[in-house]
Amino acid sequence: MKLFDVYPLYDITPVKGKGAFVYDDKGTAYLDLYGGHAVISIGHAHSHYVEKLRSQLQDLGFYSNSIKNPLQEELAEKLENAADIKDYSLFLCNSGAEANENALKLASFHTGKSDVIYFDKAFHGRTSAAVAVTDNEGIKAPLNQLHKVTKLAFEDIAGLESELKKGETAAVILEVIQGVGGLDEASTSFYQKTAELCEKYGAVLIADEVQSGYGRTGDFFAYQKHGIRPGIISIAKGMGNGFPIGGILIDSSIPAKHGMLGTTFGGNHLACAAGIAVLEVLENEELLKNAKQLFEFVQEEVKRIPQIKQLKGRGLMLGLEFDFEIAALRKTLLFEHHIFTGASSNKKLLRILPPLNIEKKHFEMFFEALKAELNK
Ligand SMILES: Cc1ncc(COP(=O)(O)O)c(C=O)c1O
Repeated sequence: MKLFDVYPLYDITPVKGKGAFVYDDKGTAYLDLYGGHAVISIGHAHSHYVEKLRSQLQDLGFYSNSIKNPLQEELAEKLENAADIKDYSLFLCNSGAEANENALKLASFHTGKSDVIYFDKAFHGRTSAAVAVTDNEGIKAPLNQLHKVTKLAFEDIAGLESELKKGETAAVILEVIQGVGGLDEASTSFYQKTAELCEKYGAVLIADEVQSGYGRTGDFFAYQKHGIRPGIISIAKGMGNGFPIGGILIDSSIPAKHGMLGTTFGGNHLACAAGIAVLEVLENEELLKNAKQLFEFVQEEVKRIPQIKQLKGRGLMLGLEFDFEIAALRKTLLFEHHIFTGASSNKKLLRILPPLNIEKKHFEMFFEALKAELNK
């Protein structure tokens, strides 16, 4: 049977990973500055993570959500402490899209309303409501277009208020720093005003931290820099370092009811073990601090490269914006220098999303390769 051909593929077959590197079937090492779409948070094959998963698998890999699973509580408690947040509860699922789908559904249950506001260049996933609030018409099927959604621009507070005033809005969903969209971040006053307006008109503010969360920006969540309190926070990607796990954090003002959300696989024993191992490594190895420190180093290095127009993002969620389209540069970095980087909907932006335990010497390798190419 053939594979359903939906992915354009590079002719590279990674078979092994260690730390910030992956190795292909011929033994070539690739520096991973992309983490397989921002997923690898604590590095490939981290020994603590591998051991935790191995021993959990030996005990119990899976049972359904109809029994007690103390690992879910352990994960929730560790997450609350790591993120330094209070009065949220946790619902576990399996992916970023699923997290947002559940966030939107829950907001709709809670408010009794159905409209959703989203923003230009947003990416929230490919399930029905998540893709409906994604700014890419090419990936919406007619079925997905049945949702009642409104797209606005970041900073358009007047537009936001006039939409919310209609009284039909269940949720406003946003990425505080956009990932796929190209690393745009609005002003603190925009996020604060948005949170105030959501409160005033009874809509739930959903912060999609699927990509920007889990320490990637140097803060545990990107929204924390702006002093807001989202009603729901969605998480996935770095949460499991490659093990499929996602979730939503739900403010205590939103009550739970049996059956309103559910999943077979979400929060299973193995997934929780992965999630716990990631949080332990983030804390023990002070990886948020590492993300902040390396950001400072990158800021300095970027100043020395005149072809870079702008450094976008923060921590280790970065975009280097050039004065030319970067597709060819990305290919050269990959095939000649063996460095994985990412693209975005901004064709001039090179995305950098390495494991959070990457070291300065790895960035030095990257900048050396980059300069060699730019000065050819
Ligand atoms: C901000 C954001 N939300 C949601 C998603 C969807 O996550 P998943 O691919 O795990 O469904 C992504 C994936 O890139 C994302 O970047």
